[in-house]
Amino acid sequence: MARSFAGPLAILLVLFFSAELSKAARLTTILDDSSEASNDLTAADSIDSVLETVSDTAEATNDIVRRFLDTAVGAYPPSPAPPSPQPPAPLDDSLYIDFVDMPAQGAKGTEKPIKQLVWFDDPDFYSQLKGYKPLQLVARPKRANCTEKQCQKCLGAWKASEKQDTVNVFFRDPVQISKIYIKQLLNPGIATVQFLKWKAPQEGATPPRLRGAVVLNQTSDSTQCGDWLTIDVPSDVSGIYLTPTKRGSAEKPKPIGVAKTAVGGIRVTVIRPAGVDADYGPWIEDIHFDGRALYPADPSIYTNYRLYAPGPTPSH
Ligand SMILES: *[C@@H]1O[C@H](CO)[C@@H](O)[C@H](O)[C@H]1NC(C)=O
Ligand SMILES: *[C@@H]1O[C@H](CO)[C@@H](O)[C@H](O)[C@H]1NC(C)=O
Repeated sequence: MARSFAGPLAILLVLFFSAELSKAARLTTILDDSSEASNDLTAADSIDSVLETVSDTAEATNDIVRRFLDTAVGAYPPSPAPPSPQPPAPLDDSLYIDFVDMPAQGAKGTEKPIKQLVWFDDPDFYSQLKGYKPLQLVARPKRANCTEKQCQKCLGAWKASEKQDTVNVFFRDPVQISKIYIKQLLNPGIATVQFLKWKAPQEGATPPRLRGAVVLNQTSDSTQCGDWLTIDVPSDVSGIYLTPTKRGSAEKPKPIGVAKTAVGGIRVTVIRPAGVDADYGPWIEDIHFDGRALYPADPSIYTNYRLYAPGPTPSH
């Protein structure tokens, strides 16, 4: 008798005491769902890259698309409600903000003396933004349009060269990353993708001691030109189920599991066969992320990429 109750009882206990866990699980379902949709809809992908290249009007459209996504998310069958009568806790921007399909916020500059880190909203951003350079991967909006150049060279993309087969992009707040999307143009070929550990303040340096989990390591890449390579980061690597606490901060995320999984950037190395010419690349148009920002200093930089609207949790 006691044995037959053990299973259901354990489930009830888990449901009761792990509201966070069920929320996180649901988030993963939602993210999986939206990525499946984007795999099927290559048209949506091009829409996204168009949106990425234009300014105010596109941001408005972008917003509509995201609101539609929010609604779709709201309509998703909810996970079983915990047997607790109290309403879900409001999402607290000071702890974390979930984001979807978001570019990183900084990369290496181009003007001498070279700055290791230029942010997308720095006053000198557009004077630092040059064709084929890393800042193309964080521009919002981009100025060069790659829509008609999905399998060609494009000014709005980063191009690997003989001297530089690796590109780094950085986040302004500590983040946890659950998915990475890499849009490839001419000669697709990603070899490795590696996390850079979070360290405050961000300086744009990438010494070996700051290099973290390797989330992709391959010798050939089957991505077609114009397509996105998608990387699912296992939850034990992303740390997306862990709950940051108010005792922590961007300087010192807490608990320790959160600190260990906090990411400050990613490092992408491409496959560049020996003897290829200067235009070979490979060419990367965009790198986007799903995940969450921990202890965000300025929540407004996440406005166009939020999974949930700010403020109290939507009532569903
Ligand atoms: C980019 O090019 C496409 C196709 O030529 C066009 O539809 C779109 O409006 C362009 N976007 C911008 C910002 O010029
Ligand atoms: C990728 O795998 C190869 C072979 O196992 C290994 O030698 C290499 O160090 C790995 N690369 C990274 C960045 O971990």
